[in-house]
Amino acid sequence: MPIVTVDGTTYEYEGEQKLLQFCLNQGIELPHFCYHPAMSIPANCRQCLVKVGMPTEDRETGEVVRNDDGEPEIQYFPQLQASCTVDLQDGMVVKTHRTSEEVEQAQTDNLEFLLTNHPLDCPICDQAGHCPLQIQSYKYGPEGSRFEFRKVHKPKRVKLGPRVTLDAERCINCTRCTRFTDEVSESNQLTIANRGVKNYPITAPGETFDDPYSMNTIDICPVGALTSSDFRFKARIWEMSSTPSITTTNATGANCHYWVRDNQVLRITPRQNMEVNEYWLPDEDRLVYNQFNDNRPDGPHIRRNDTRTQSNWQQAYARAASLLGSADPERILFLGSAYATVEDNYLLTQLADAVGADAPRYIPHIEPGAGDDWLITDDKTPNAEGCERLGIRPVDEELVGSRIASGEYDLVYVLEDDPVGAGLCDAEALADTDVVLHYYNTTNETLSRATAALPAAMVVETVGTYVNQDGRAQRVRPAKEIQGVNRTLMMEMGTNREDEHGTPFDRWHNDENRVNCKPSWEILPEIARRYGAEMDYPKGPEQIMDEVQSEREAFEGATYDAMGLKGVLLEDVAAGEAV
Ligand code: SF4
Ligand code: FES
Repeated sequence: MPIVTVDGTTYEYEGEQKLLQFCLNQGIELPHFCYHPAMSIPANCRQCLVKVGMPTEDRETGEVVRNDDGEPEIQYFPQLQASCTVDLQDGMVVKTHRTSEEVEQAQTDNLEFLLTNHPLDCPICDQAGHCPLQIQSYKYGPEGSRFEFRKVHKPKRVKLGPRVTLDAERCINCTRCTRFTDEVSESNQLTIANRGVKNYPITAPGETFDDPYSMNTIDICPVGALTSSDFRFKARIWEMSSTPSITTTNATGANCHYWVRDNQVLRITPRQNMEVNEYWLPDEDRLVYNQFNDNRPDGPHIRRNDTRTQSNWQQAYARAASLLGSADPERILFLGSAYATVEDNYLLTQLADAVGADAPRYIPHIEPGAGDDWLITDDKTPNAEGCERLGIRPVDEELVGSRIASGEYDLVYVLEDDPVGAGLCDAEALADTDVVLHYYNTTNETLSRATAALPAAMVVETVGTYVNQDGRAQRVRPAKEIQGVNRTLMMEMGTNREDEHGTPFDRWHNDENRVNCKPSWEILPEIARRYGAEMDYPKGPEQIMDEVQSEREAFEGATYDAMGLKGVLLEDVAAGEAV
């Protein structure tokens, strides 16, 4: 197998590889700005310089020339090389800044050049704390500045489009943003204007940067030149915790981080998963974070004699159980949800079974033509595939709508959906029907008809599993606390920077903005017990999912351990054959 030696350590490698990416894969840190593994390599930042040599060969014999110790004589290239462009070759010897003063000096000098016209406004920059330029300047840059002249001024606060704002003075002209629109999203909306120290990225005159993936340029910009118009100046990176999870805007199940401060989600950014969304996230996945903060419920409500009043959880459970007990099972409609987790839908099927009602159905939320054959799908729910695999079929909207309208149901039990908002029926059609509703936001249009309204935890507050359109089962974890948080949620909650660096006696968690809601996997067993049915999962959703994956062939292998952070691809199940 061919070998390459970096700073005296020899590595074997296979196939064609670039030196920078190879080093990064081995955990060898090399400073760089313009290189991105998903795009072409312009080698314009010059930060990744290394010293590269090859064993000297005798021109006549072709043999490797060896020194007195029998080691190959290495002939180094006369110039330092940009490691992002160098192809690995058998026998190559590389010196990084760790073993070469020449490389170390070149990297320092290069950073000095990059900073000559940089405004050095880190204290007010959104990127501070996670800025490659800031981090690399600290690690490899010069101490202080020798630049005593007036800096070149360029446009500031330029609204490139509805979601991205440019500060051209911070730009180091790495062209990652323009290459993204040329090569990845293919909108070709950005280009570099002007030359030399005056250049910066911009749209064509009269054009706006409204690419549906425009906010990815913010993530890949290695400085604070491109910032989110929405998130600018809202929070510093070190004030927030980030939790690995997935987005629920559509059926892709794109991997993401939820960024939270004081139990409020402030932004959503992509998390690399080469099997799902690679490095990217559509803008529409990012801008839905307000749904986790705004119009959230303030605890359960029950309705008697047409008056809905605030209640407590015990009364609400009892009310829901008594509605189940008093209704004719054949006149109960259970609606599962493609927004809810597999675990929650599974418990609903068990409850319907215990009551003797028909199996739950779910409401599809399809917007024909909304998808783009990439990360945006026509299906606006994250778990239709999970429902199908549980045997929960879509409702026949016309049939069920007319049955509700003609009063054929005594009770409609809705898990985390909104039949009125979805157009399945009018609110008036439910006037004589009892409704048990698990819901997320007070904007839910079915809420006005709910006999028992049970606030449900959202994806950022619960533990559970979603199955995306390709059959990949993925876990979600709580990113923020709710009221009365239980042990399972506490154990799954990620720590934030303050938790990690505090003492065991510090309590950094914040009681502000905690919503009075519960995960449906906690609500459903409480109602089932009061109804008189067995539903006991003391270990919570992990135990539920263990049961699902062992008893349902369509989920085989989907344990929490197997899903980990990247999910697990389930065996294909033919449509209509889910068990
Ligand atoms: S704005 Fe950022 S990503 Fe675009 S060229 Fe400048 S530094 Fe690079
Ligand atoms: S990363 Fe190699 S030149 Fe920019």
